[in-house]
Amino acid sequence: MKQQEIMKVLQEYHTPAYVFDLDALARRLKKISSALKQDKMDLCYAMKANPFLTGAMEPFVERFEVCSPGEFRICEREKIPVERLVISGVNKEPEDILRIVTEYQGRGIFTIESQQQLKLLSDCARKTGYHIKVLVRISSGNQFGVDRELAMHILTEQEKYPELSFQGIQYYSGTQKKSLSLTEQELKSLDEFCQEAEEKGHTVKELEYGPGFCVPYFQSDSEECLDELLEEFRKLVRNMEFGGKITLEMGRFPVADCGSFLTTIVDRKDTQGQIYGIVDGGIHHLNYYGQTMAMKLPHVQHISRDAAENQAEEKWNLCGSLCTSADVIVKQFPLIGGKVGDVLVFERVGAYSVTEGINLFLSRDLPKVLFYSDEQGIQLIRDTQETDRINSGNF
Ligand SMILES: Cc1ncc(COP(=O)(O)O)c(C=O)c1O
Repeated sequence: MKQQEIMKVLQEYHTPAYVFDLDALARRLKKISSALKQDKMDLCYAMKANPFLTGAMEPFVERFEVCSPGEFRICEREKIPVERLVISGVNKEPEDILRIVTEYQGRGIFTIESQQQLKLLSDCARKTGYHIKVLVRISSGNQFGVDRELAMHILTEQEKYPELSFQGIQYYSGTQKKSLSLTEQELKSLDEFCQEAEEKGHTVKELEYGPGFCVPYFQSDSEECLDELLEEFRKLVRNMEFGGKITLEMGRFPVADCGSFLTTIVDRKDTQGQIYGIVDGGIHHLNYYGQTMAMKLPHVQHISRDAAENQAEEKWNLCGSLCTSADVIVKQFPLIGGKVGDVLVFERVGAYSVTEGINLFLSRDLPKVLFYSDEQGIQLIRDTQETDRINSGNF
């Protein structure tokens, strides 16, 4: 976000706060989507990356990947049509699945992540009389999905499950892939899988693939070249034999860029030759994938309380408000004329930071969540929220 937009936010609201810039989000999504559309690929938003953005993503993606009853309820409140949801995840609770299938007459797409889930979905479809669309998730060697052989077996024996409509396969192997070489191997292997299925009499209609594209979080990372990356990826897709529909399931890549976290330096101390700056946020609010020992420098704007000229640069250890020595956001961060009362804007935190932190620790309040756009200005989406009641039995 530009400094003048941040200043507007700070005039109205105190830190700590997340601000999601919806104009930046829209610009990025339009670019990604229009490039991928040229090769007829659709987008699916893995909403775990930032559920607050579910409604804002609606005009730009065809689908939403939903992995819990809570995520499903968010989609219901955002009025996302169920047919656009891919109901995924390892723990599908029978009551939830039955409720969704019954209430929405079998609409939506469900992933199969185990033999038990295959049975659950088949039972649900039979019980309710609604046909259910399914994707079989292939495992990348972890607890998600099923073995390739089992996936092939399920797909080629699909006549045993006339109540299920087998749409295709889902595959996601991990995030922050720094190059496309693993992607190339994965697409090749999935292509071979689809060809083998075809030879065995089953046409895979759809491939729902999570590319796990990388976000350059740190100053030492090479900056992204979006057009080039998308072009290279599209080339890989064009090399595939697979002729069905491809949907790209993405979380981090589309949304990281639109998020900023605003936090104030509340204390400074010089201890044993080190400068410690305590901020009103902390590691429970910021999640930079790949940040080990707080050694890498993220992208941070420094909004100075009273900017004077000719001030010296000092290296600050920026620590949060939790009672743990682990609450070090970044070590040796260079600040010119840093002072108590200055605001630091941690950038590129639109993905995962708002939900992945240990927010209940120390019973500190949850920060505000704000949206910003030129048209709507600043919108308060979630006010500061106390956690002490969640953390105690004394109501
Ligand atoms: C099945 C699936 N698809 C997509 C994603 C989104 O991944 P990313 O944030 O790397 O884009 C995840 C993340 O965990 C996932 O589990």
